[in-house]
Amino acid sequence: MEKKFKRTTVTSALPYANGPVHIGHLAGVYVPADIYVRYLKLKNEEVLFIGGSDEHGVPITIRAKKEGVTPQDIVNRYHTLIKDSFEEFGISFDIYSRTTSETHHKLASDFFRTLYDKGAFIEKSSEQYYDDEAGQFLADRYITGECPHCHSEGAYGDQCEKCGTSLSPTDLINPKSAISGSVPVMKETKHWYLPLDQHEEWLRKWILEDHKEWRPNVYGQCKSWLDMGLQPRAVSRDLDWGIPVPVEGAEGKVLYVWFDAPLGYVSNTKELLPDTWETWWKDPESRLIHFIGKDNIVFHCIVFPAMLKAEESYILPENVPSNEFLNLEGDKISTSRNWAVWLHEYLEEFPGKQDVLRYVLTANAPETKDNDFTWKDFQARNNSELVAIYGNFVNRSLVLTAKYFDSKVPQAGELTEYDKEVLAEFAQIKSELEQLLDNFKFRDAQKEAMNLARIGNKYLADTEPWKLAKTDMERVGTILNISLQLVANLAIAFEPFLPFSSQKLRDMLNMDTFEWNSLGRTDLLQAGHQLGKPELLFEKIEDPVIEEQIQKLLATKKENEENNYKANPVRENIEFDDFLKLDIRVGTVLECLKVPKTDKLLQFKIEDGLETRTIVSGIAGYYQPEELVGKQVCFIANLAPRKLRGIVSEGMILSAENNDGTLSVIMPQKEVKPGNEVK
Ligand code: 2FM
Ligand code: ZN
Repeated sequence: MEKKFKRTTVTSALPYANGPVHIGHLAGVYVPADIYVRYLKLKNEEVLFIGGSDEHGVPITIRAKKEGVTPQDIVNRYHTLIKDSFEEFGISFDIYSRTTSETHHKLASDFFRTLYDKGAFIEKSSEQYYDDEAGQFLADRYITGECPHCHSEGAYGDQCEKCGTSLSPTDLINPKSAISGSVPVMKETKHWYLPLDQHEEWLRKWILEDHKEWRPNVYGQCKSWLDMGLQPRAVSRDLDWGIPVPVEGAEGKVLYVWFDAPLGYVSNTKELLPDTWETWWKDPESRLIHFIGKDNIVFHCIVFPAMLKAEESYILPENVPSNEFLNLEGDKISTSRNWAVWLHEYLEEFPGKQDVLRYVLTANAPETKDNDFTWKDFQARNNSELVAIYGNFVNRSLVLTAKYFDSKVPQAGELTEYDKEVLAEFAQIKSELEQLLDNFKFRDAQKEAMNLARIGNKYLADTEPWKLAKTDMERVGTILNISLQLVANLAIAFEPFLPFSSQKLRDMLNMDTFEWNSLGRTDLLQAGHQLGKPELLFEKIEDPVIEEQIQKLLATKKENEENNYKANPVRENIEFDDFLKLDIRVGTVLECLKVPKTDKLLQFKIEDGLETRTIVSGIAGYYQPEELVGKQVCFIANLAPRKLRGIVSEGMILSAENNDGTLSVIMPQKEVKPGNEVK
């Protein structure tokens, strides 16, 4: 039986305060969370929407060092920028605070201490990388090296950004300090670990049996973590930026950023409601929902719940709606390559057009798979949906009422079958939208609301009241009464998605009743009710405006290509004899399979002219195995064999790398006999 809750605590991932927010963050987390919260608030449900900045962690300290300022300077700058732009964009947080707040430092510190006193951690000394020159341990991103999986350079101690694999510093090949560039030494240090292995059993039941309703991407990721077996996770770091570990003998150590950040949700609730915050986090009648991006799933579905469970007085999340990623014009959004549409820039360049971006991001929400934002689509959705359907219907209804009835809602007379049909469609909208919104299907819900506007638009086009004005004013009155009721319904239905337009519409309609539960009613506006002055809800966006944005991105692309070339210059000349040492040949792919338990590796059987050879290649992220069977590839035939995941790889398949790190296998343009050389 479905559980009944009294109130809902909604959190949205705390963005790192070391850069501005972009459309990927918005589409992935903040717009869906805001739609959900606005929907619940419109239903008069008890709900809290918690946000804030994540201000600890290694990248912030690296950035500060680079700029010659303090980490606090960095987070102050970005916290303010992010907070202001969220506000202007209409993300309706009840509080947007930060993890450098006093309340948070105390709460996170006390939380750690409680777990420590309960014996919920294990304490372990181990050897970790240390930079002798800088006199500091090298946590997470302070260490870089070659990725053991895809062998690209510049992988970090916690993750390889090229292939996405989570790493530990000791996994890296040829590790180097990111501070001094020196080769690190090993030095013993003590840390506290959350023994996730001890939590595995209840986590398995709680997620895999009790929360089958979670989105397939979330459920699937949890299942694969659980199936691999959970390991203890260190919750402290040797760093001087963060919340000091509150136990004796822990000088120079701080809480791991992923230990303190999710507690920021709790601290921010406490800052807002110092006396009643516990109700929102501990009362079993409170429902906790985390909105996050897909890279945060393990922390919100496994690590944070284990922390809350270990503390023993907290509730656990009911759902963790996580989106996939949004790309920009076909390429992965990247902060470092400036490949993004930044929220603060959008707000400056498109003043008053918050709802257009909100609409487009929801229409393309990456709810089930990665999705793409393009400026052409942005323009098309604005011009042919917001302007031509919703805006047009609203405008015609109001302008005609102004013209024929002095902007007073006319009386409805007898209804035709068609009138009744249209009204019946509206009667269903409430339950249809609820069904979708309650299941976090925001994209379909917005589509449904737009369909309704479409019905209204068609109703006016079909009934043509402007033609009847000379002959049958009573009928005109009926048509406009119905249209205006539909318009009023749309103002409510669209409020969670397009709050600025709904407010504008509400003002134009002088609407008092404005709550979710009135949806579907046909008497939202009484006959004789005075309407305000009609104004356009949306404006057409012309080609030059879009062209300017496209040019801006093209300039970024060009700059990136130049930088790429500079960062990756052509290597020193070699002698022809050196080139001849490389034996590159053509082979035909006979078989291609995924290597079990990895996301990255494909195992090939290649016909090489003499025999069949096995080659393992890190391109599973870019190809389905079956796509490559029967194709010809180029491979290095005389590379010394090496073992990858227990499989001996006899060579290397050649691929070209794109700017976003994706790989494209090199194939001969015409068929070549297998085994022949590439020269
Ligand atoms: O991935 C991120 O951007 C993290 N700063 C999200 C933290 S969510 C929560 F734990 F605070
Ligand atoms: Zn890698």
